[in-house]
Amino acid sequence: MRILSGVKATGRPHLGNYFGAIRQFLELQSQGEGFYFVADLHALDLVRDAEKMREYALGVALDYLALGLDPEHCTLFMQSQVPEVSELMWVLGSVTPMGQLQRAHGYKDAAAKGKEVDFGLFAYPVLMAADILLYRSNVVPVGKDQKQHLELTRDLAVKFNLTYCKDFDPETGEGGALALPEGHILDDVAVVPGTDGRKMSKSYDNTIQLFASDKQVKKSIMRVVTDSTPVEDAKDPENCNVYGLLKLFLADAALAEVADQYRAGGTGYGAFKTRLLDAFHTQFDAARMRRQELLENLDYVHEVLRKGAARAREVGGEVLADVQRACGLR
Ligand code: ADP
Ligand code: TRP
Repeated sequence: MRILSGVKATGRPHLGNYFGAIRQFLELQSQGEGFYFVADLHALDLVRDAEKMREYALGVALDYLALGLDPEHCTLFMQSQVPEVSELMWVLGSVTPMGQLQRAHGYKDAAAKGKEVDFGLFAYPVLMAADILLYRSNVVPVGKDQKQHLELTRDLAVKFNLTYCKDFDPETGEGGALALPEGHILDDVAVVPGTDGRKMSKSYDNTIQLFASDKQVKKSIMRVVTDSTPVEDAKDPENCNVYGLLKLFLADAALAEVADQYRAGGTGYGAFKTRLLDAFHTQFDAARMRRQELLENLDYVHEVLRKGAARAREVGGEVLADVQRACGLR
């Protein structure tokens, strides 16, 4: 079984990205052959500064390694270091109906907001399909927001196979040049709240970053918005952003204890924030230290990525060759 997923290199990772996506990759990596990449091509339409692009892209690779993706057991690479993916994207693009891309959320939302949409954003789902299909990926763990992209990916694989592969059986998915992937939609993942109570997102500037300095992490946690209930009064945990975040970290028993403290009154929000800060450090300090060590050992990181790209090109090259033979480019 091949498991594949990617993270867009558009900024620094936060708790939402970790609990919403990266943690699931880590859990799945032991269940099959993992392919994890840095989606730098996908970041181009948002990041328009070369220095930032390099920083973010390398940053995602460091995050992967620091958080525990093991290059001895999985393939870690930069999307742009596998040119085959861009070529497959073009081939897939030739069987992609415009209408389907016009219905894609990313494009539709941007267009509805009156933004100037470039081809990169419009074609984003086709590149994502190429990412998945190039390695005959079986399982693709992603958040709910990516479901539509997975459906398009399957549609394009079926369409290509039906068009070009006479042995293809759409019932079984066998006999095509492209394998049909299964989604692995992480729908049990709750939305992680940001410091202002809205969904945690880079675009809202309400994140708690995994790898910010101790000082910055503390600052972010201390600014989590709470109401003005006085210290001595009883508080409702379910309506508190701090509790919403504590839920991610604490086991059931510890969480129940905290909930009791909320309801009993006598404890201020500051104390719950300190509890959250402690929980953050308990969970992430090992990874934070590893990332620091990796930063001082970038040769190693580049070597991991070089080997990863070589492996990805080996697998992807064969699939692309099959595709090219099927459609007469070879
Ligand atoms: P951002 O909103 O900060 O730009 P991305 O869109 O790059 O984040 O998200 C990358 C991954 O992290 C996606 O799979 C998404 O589902 C997940 N994710 C992002 N924010 C959250 C959140 N607040 N709660 C749960 N998952 C999230
Ligand atoms: N579109 C995904 C996101 O925004 C990132 C991504 C690009 C991806 N290519 C992929 C995820 C292939 C899974 C498989 O989060």
